[in-house]
Amino acid sequence: MKREFLTVIAVIAAMCPQAAVSQSDDPDGRAARIEAQMTDDERYALLWGYMPLPSRLGPAPTPEGVKPSAGYFPPIPRLRFPGLHETDASLGITNPNQLRRNDTATALPSGLALAATFDPVLAERAGRMIGSEARAKGFNVLLAGGVNLTRDWFGGRNFEYLGEDPLLAGLMGGSSIRGIQSQNVVSTAKHFVLNAQETARHSVNARISEAALRESDLLAFQIALEVGQPGSIMCAYNKVNGVSGCGNDWLLNGVLRKDWGYKGWVMSDWGATHGPADIVNGLDQESGAQLDKQVWFDKPLKDSIAAGQIPKGVLSQSVRRILRSVYAVGADFPLAERPIDDQADSEVALQIARQGIVLLKNDNLLPLNNTPRRILVVGRYADRGVWSGGGSSQVTPNGGPSVRLPYGGSGFLNVNGFQVLAASSPLAELRKRLPNATIEFDTGYDPGLAAARAAKADIVIAFVSKWQVETLDSASLALPEGQDTLIDNLVSANPHTVVVLETGNPVAMPWLEKTGAVIQAWYSGQRGGEAIAEVLSGQVNPSGRLPMTFPRDAAQAPRSQVPGLGMPDDGTPLVVSYIEGADVGYRWYASKGFDPLFPFGFGLSYTQFRHDGLRVRSSGATATASVTVSNIGARAGADVPQLYLVAINGKPVRRLVGFSRVELQQGEGKPVSFAIDPRLLADWSPQGWTINGGTYEFAVGHSATQLEARVAVRLSRRCFKP
Ligand code: BGC
Repeated sequence: MKREFLTVIAVIAAMCPQAAVSQSDDPDGRAARIEAQMTDDERYALLWGYMPLPSRLGPAPTPEGVKPSAGYFPPIPRLRFPGLHETDASLGITNPNQLRRNDTATALPSGLALAATFDPVLAERAGRMIGSEARAKGFNVLLAGGVNLTRDWFGGRNFEYLGEDPLLAGLMGGSSIRGIQSQNVVSTAKHFVLNAQETARHSVNARISEAALRESDLLAFQIALEVGQPGSIMCAYNKVNGVSGCGNDWLLNGVLRKDWGYKGWVMSDWGATHGPADIVNGLDQESGAQLDKQVWFDKPLKDSIAAGQIPKGVLSQSVRRILRSVYAVGADFPLAERPIDDQADSEVALQIARQGIVLLKNDNLLPLNNTPRRILVVGRYADRGVWSGGGSSQVTPNGGPSVRLPYGGSGFLNVNGFQVLAASSPLAELRKRLPNATIEFDTGYDPGLAAARAAKADIVIAFVSKWQVETLDSASLALPEGQDTLIDNLVSANPHTVVVLETGNPVAMPWLEKTGAVIQAWYSGQRGGEAIAEVLSGQVNPSGRLPMTFPRDAAQAPRSQVPGLGMPDDGTPLVVSYIEGADVGYRWYASKGFDPLFPFGFGLSYTQFRHDGLRVRSSGATATASVTVSNIGARAGADVPQLYLVAINGKPVRRLVGFSRVELQQGEGKPVSFAIDPRLLADWSPQGWTINGGTYEFAVGHSATQLEARVAVRLSRRCFKP
């Protein structure tokens, strides 16, 4: 295992051109020395910044020559400080409203697709790739690293995130951050914390107990910070227990700095600073300042310091934190635009799409390799490309979008107000891979007509989609625009129908029983059409696993409706009580005894796997486990054995405590071991983490509900600090 891991790293290193690394050995000392030489004007210039975008967003006095992007803080040439040149986001380098002419980038599949790979090595590779593109385009701060847990089926930004489990999200997010920062680009972890819904995101007050928060969303961040050591954290718009994310002393000074020892800087989300006192409460930098009521970290901060209401020391403290991260990451390495190997980078997008596609159902219909005769492909735009999610993370894919649909609406993010499809046509890719089949296309615009054509085909492949965008949650679990009716018509006409879902969230599947096969393709990035065709045709054996539970219906979920649905985001108060606490996603369904439509961790393959000989060893209060994973089917494939804690002293729990993605040839078996993070065995109390001790039962399985033989071990009581 170890050797394989190292080989993968070596391959990655060979593929991704590295920027010369100039990480400082003593970033704290260097930051202190440079900061001491700065004037107050230079210090303030680092504490707040505009989004350098000319627009209806408000005044943005962007200096001549500064590239339009998400954020800019000026250089200080006499101190050889290059400034901060910030761009979004985790799915590639964005270009808001195409203001940088002809500047496209490699568009990765969604965060959920990446999470579905359960492959931190691939996440790091993705990070390296986008980090190197950021550098090549002249940016040294990447606003990537979204690790909010996907608590709800409706979250408008779930597609950017890494699923509902703290271990998965933390490891995948941290690995991606580590990859980005290897390119001398600061990465952020965002949005700190509990930014779980878009509706009223500027005012929603997320209520939760400290213990539940520590064991869930905070744990995801904590793991991501340990793995990735991001130079910056972006605090969130929402309030947590009554206090705004970016003015939250407990979260920023307490949890982040005091408990976790975080040394980097906290930047606000864009428009999330509420006053000069935020700096005392732990915020170091006001971002996107034209979105705030006024620029708080300039005159109002100066006035508060002059009046003695805020100690002057905060200035140096925040500036040092910023400089420290820049030096620690080597982000002061001189910025010079350089060419990008688009082809090599797009391989990363393709690999994520291949590994992230999840086969949800297969009644011997797939793969198509031996059965191609007359195939009807149905679905608006399946001939043109694949869907992506909208908002600040929207990348303009290399080659330009194949479809760009204005969606109307208003507001800040309307600068990105288009639905974008990447030009990777599933139809064309299927035709390439199945040359002996006759493949026809129907848009599905008229379900009756599509069904009449479906009746004459041997196999129907129906592409359906649900677009998600930052700022908007989904009002229902259903597919929009009559697509459920379309599928219903198709399956009634021809049960040999494969449904391909391109969605940024779980959806209901009222037609599931009647379909022959279903694949979840998420938003599959700029080579998604290829990956989908490879999976359908059998060139690639699907290996993705769901990073989110798909409920049977919304009534099963902790929230069956979007709290505040339809409310304007104008500051009107809204409270959301997270009643599930730390039982996010699969833990909720397990605790309620609900049987979801598809559980977390679920995904089929064209081969079968077996897990044998689970052993769990305890040494005092820690535990390690091992199992043998075998491929018992007829072809090579990858399995993702998952280890769950299922009971503590007889009380049922459900916690993912380990996972591994394993490639296996036909007939091959491999040992897999898991080192269990003690926090996953513990509960949070005001004194810190406590493993209560006693009997702990574990089970390995194919998903959160397909668990095999249990193994029990005794653990001793142990308390430890954050
Ligand atoms: C988003 C951030 C993003 C920022 C800059 C905000 O609306 O919440 O994730 O990085 O805009 O574009």
